[in-house]
Amino acid sequence: MGSVFLNGEFMPMSEAKISPMDRGFLFGDGIYEVIPSYAGKLVGFEPHMRRLETGLQAIGMPMPMGISAIKTVVERLIVENGAGNLGIYLHVSRGADVKRFHAYPTNVSQTVFAFAFEIPAEPVADKSKSKGFKVVTSEDLRWKRCHIKSTSLLGNVMHFQQSQSAGVNETILYDDNAYLTEASSCNVFIVKDGVIITPPLSEKLLPGITRGMLLDILKNDGSLSFEERAVHMDEVRSADEIWLTSSSKEIAPVIEIDGLPVGDGQIGDIWLKAQGLFSQYKYNE
Ligand code: PDD
Repeated sequence: MGSVFLNGEFMPMSEAKISPMDRGFLFGDGIYEVIPSYAGKLVGFEPHMRRLETGLQAIGMPMPMGISAIKTVVERLIVENGAGNLGIYLHVSRGADVKRFHAYPTNVSQTVFAFAFEIPAEPVADKSKSKGFKVVTSEDLRWKRCHIKSTSLLGNVMHFQQSQSAGVNETILYDDNAYLTEASSCNVFIVKDGVIITPPLSEKLLPGITRGMLLDILKNDGSLSFEERAVHMDEVRSADEIWLTSSSKEIAPVIEIDGLPVGDGQIGDIWLKAQGLFSQYKYNE
């Protein structure tokens, strides 16, 4: 892999060093984004920047640099890393203090780190070329601020690990009333009788950029019905289709939940249409 970006400079990953006193390291005190790009073209850059700004505001931090400066960094990382199928990870932590003290310090400079990593090839609306995902389910045991894209990801990591221990791909999460929240690293949609349904935004889930773009695209296109409403896990289990959405996966069809088939156990027809629309319009969002 080519260069990474750390605090204003580009360098090989092996030369990128931060202080162990960095609050990102000590407290997980930071915000991050993952922005996808294919053959040098970014998907959803503007909404990713809006969410970064909102997340930083929520934890009392300013944007570390202007959006056009961030874009210059991101574009250079893409070029220097081969401009293939790349995710750009961008991380802003509060920075390194001289002591370990919980309160927000005033005189530290933010740490800004970004690197490019390979993501799967650009998804296509073709059942024969798509992987069917398998999931397990679990009560959501994370914190009550899941709308903040915080680098404190231990709750998500532990839930993702449940899926790995079960030999599947993801863990779908539900609240203490058995209502769907999201998955450990994706948002969740279901399809029932031709209607696409996803939980509304709240502090229980991340406002996923892929989720938001998909809803906008569905609204503008108008050929598929969709609803944002609370979804009980009984509905998830009896859904005709389940999808996971995230920047590195776009819309991923789920074919098995807790060892049982989703619908007929095959990738669904509504997924095919939705991924087709997403592929058609994603660079315009
Ligand atoms: N994960 N929910 C959670 C908890 C997530 O971590 C993510 C993204 C999403 C989907 O958001 P978006 O569509 O903006 O990628 C939902 C990223 C990719 C990650 O942590 O690697």
